Amino acid sequence: MAKARIAVIGAGLMGHGIAQVFALHDHDVTLYDSFAATLATAKDRIKTNLVDLGEDVAAVERVRPCSDLGDAVRNADYVVEAVLEDLPLKQKLFQEIESTARPDAIFASNTSVIPITAIMQGLANRARALGTHWWNPPYLVPLVEVIGTAWTSAEAIDWTIKLHAAVGKTPVHVKKDVPGFVGNRLQHALWRECIALVQNGICDAETVDTVIKASFGRRLAVLGPLENADLVGTDLTLAIHKTVLPDIDRTPGPLPYLEKLVARGKLGMKSGEGFRTWTPEQQQALRQRVLAHLKQARSKDA
Ligand SMILES: NC(=O)c1ccc[n+]([C@@H]2O[C@H](COP(=O)([O-])OP(=O)(O)OC[C@H]3O[C@@H](n4cnc5c(N)ncnc54)[C@H](O)[C@@H]3O)[C@@H](O)[C@H]2O)c1
Repeated sequence: MAKARIAVIGAGLMGHGIAQVFALHDHDVTLYDSFAATLATAKDRIKTNLVDLGEDVAAVERVRPCSDLGDAVRNADYVVEAVLEDLPLKQKLFQEIESTARPDAIFASNTSVIPITAIMQGLANRARALGTHWWNPPYLVPLVEVIGTAWTSAEAIDWTIKLHAAVGKTPVHVKKDVPGFVGNRLQHALWRECIALVQNGICDAETVDTVIKASFGRRLAVLGPLENADLVGTDLTLAIHKTVLPDIDRTPGPLPYLEKLVARGKLGMKSGEGFRTWTPEQQQALRQRVLAHLKQARSKDA
């Protein structure tokens, strides 16, 4: 794929990592953030990641931090937004971007769950707008969901899929713009049942995580649920569903157990307690374990 000029808007957790991936694969990247201190540390954060991963540190020089949004997007072929998960903010930002960007530039939002249709509805040219949902950390987790709206052109989808495949990602096409796309719908369907099991006293939170990590979680990276259903047989899957599905939680909103945790200030690791209690050492150990696992998985892919 030809070298492209990429503008990344938002230099936080996701934005700096997305910039890093494009720069590492020879694209020139402009990086904008409205918070000067975040922009000022972005290149150092990318450098630290590259050193840690044993990758070409010189790639960071292809990233140009910009303190002006117009400067960041003016010449871009592709603009990807990774600012806070806030619909009015994203809507306003894309309208500003459209007033400066080239008419043929493609626009993408990295929102986790907000429908792309809602974000892009105010644009004059909605055919060029789509979603690209990356996973954290962007330089270690392969998937990028490429989401089209009813307005998105086939050319924009095709170009974006090729762009991400060429930088080593695993892009997939999500054909309908539904909240949470594919990955987060699946993830949070599982989380709801996890919380229901704890809420209903079936087991404690630690047991939920142990059951998953020591059983089907072991296989998930190599055996998807629908491959698994074919492996065991759709007839067996049907029989299981007849017994189990009527008993699985179908609450249409957040579960009371979760609401209560939040109301009591049990916000997870940042407050030291959520579903479980966390010492700073336990938090650090968990983060290290996840990072080591993802690095190992990536080196096996290579
Ligand atoms: N964290 C994740 O695991 C994850 C995964 C996939 C997608 N996402 C999505 O990616 C987006 C960014 O998430 P994050 O985790 O990187 O958040 P973050 O808080 O780390 O970064 C957001 C950045 O946006 C900047 N910002 C705020 N307003 C801005 C503006 N008007 N213009 C430019 N920059 C602005 C902030 O200064 C901050 O640096 C969100 O939509 C989020 O839902 C997050």
